[in-house]
Amino acid sequence: EDAALLAAFQARVDAEEKIEPNDWMPEAYRKTLVRQISQHAHSEIVGMLPEGNWISRAPTLKRKAALLAKVQDEGGHGLYLYSAAETLGVSREELTEQLLSGKAKYSSIFNYPTLTWADIGAIGWLVDGAAIMNQIPLCRCSFGPYSRAMIRVCKEESFHQRQGYELLLEMCRSSEEQKEMVQDALNRWWWPSLMMFGPSDTDSKHSAQSMAWKIKRFTNDELRQKFVDATVPQAHYLGLTLPDPDLKFNEETGHWEYGEIDWEEFSRVVAGNGPCNRERLDARRKAWDEGAWVREASLAYAEKRRNRREA
Ligand code: ACO
Repeated sequence: EDAALLAAFQARVDAEEKIEPNDWMPEAYRKTLVRQISQHAHSEIVGMLPEGNWISRAPTLKRKAALLAKVQDEGGHGLYLYSAAETLGVSREELTEQLLSGKAKYSSIFNYPTLTWADIGAIGWLVDGAAIMNQIPLCRCSFGPYSRAMIRVCKEESFHQRQGYELLLEMCRSSEEQKEMVQDALNRWWWPSLMMFGPSDTDSKHSAQSMAWKIKRFTNDELRQKFVDATVPQAHYLGLTLPDPDLKFNEETGHWEYGEIDWEEFSRVVAGNGPCNRERLDARRKAWDEGAWVREASLAYAEKRRNRREA
């Protein structure tokens, strides 16, 4: 690639100009964005499954309405993101194929089971809380379509986080038994939520380049620390204990220091061997197969209309 083109591109990025789909961009920039945006889209789509599991078992009409809306939002986020990826020259079919064949990555967090109703609250509070921490900076991503999609996505994520926390607050104030369910959910979701931010900075192979291109604005460890600092006081407000004996507040730095993350567990889940990986992909494949007639019918309808117009 031409050195002058590369320099001009970097200058635009440095000047905080948005890069749009028809602008010249280095091939590696395009590839990085297709990778990140498609993984993000897959995460939204697979992320509907753990919670979808509880729609029919929500305890009240109000809770059911909120959960239904949230899961639908996630479907919408997936669709925006696939559209943003398509502006980079890949097709939605290709990306779907990568997900269903097990080639594509999606967030590790969605490979854990939702065992009780408290898990629905924990997902909103922790998983969507972590997602917001990671996605607010993406609203300033150098690639225009991704950054604009993130603005609406973040507004919706913020509602998801609040409904989760409010649900847990109500449970914690209701009875000892319910509070124990919440504590159990926190014990199971805390560490996987920290893993959502990705490998530590020393092991993150893409961070340096993505920061230089202003796709990422903070490193994985920076965002993880921000999340811990924001979330620990929220846990204390609920009257809960974080499942980390090494957690302590550092008066000098003003940050909560946390214990060692189990990176082996992380690698295992990312490699496809977490508690629910197989179940998640099976559910997506089943949905894809069962939706085949809808895709065929809409193509046939489009074809019929085209023929009629040409006739
Ligand atoms: N789960 C699965 N894979 C992960 C995770 C995770 N939690 N964290 C990192 N990885 C993967 C990366 O995708 C990358 O894989 P690849 O090289 O095969 O593509 C590899 O581990 C190395 O990680 P990094 O070099 O740190 O990768 P990157 O710079 O892309 O940072 C991050 C990872 C922070 C997840 C980034 O891609 C990102 O911000 N993505 C957008 C947000 C997103 O996808 N959120 C999904 C969950 S939130 C939700 O959907 C509600």
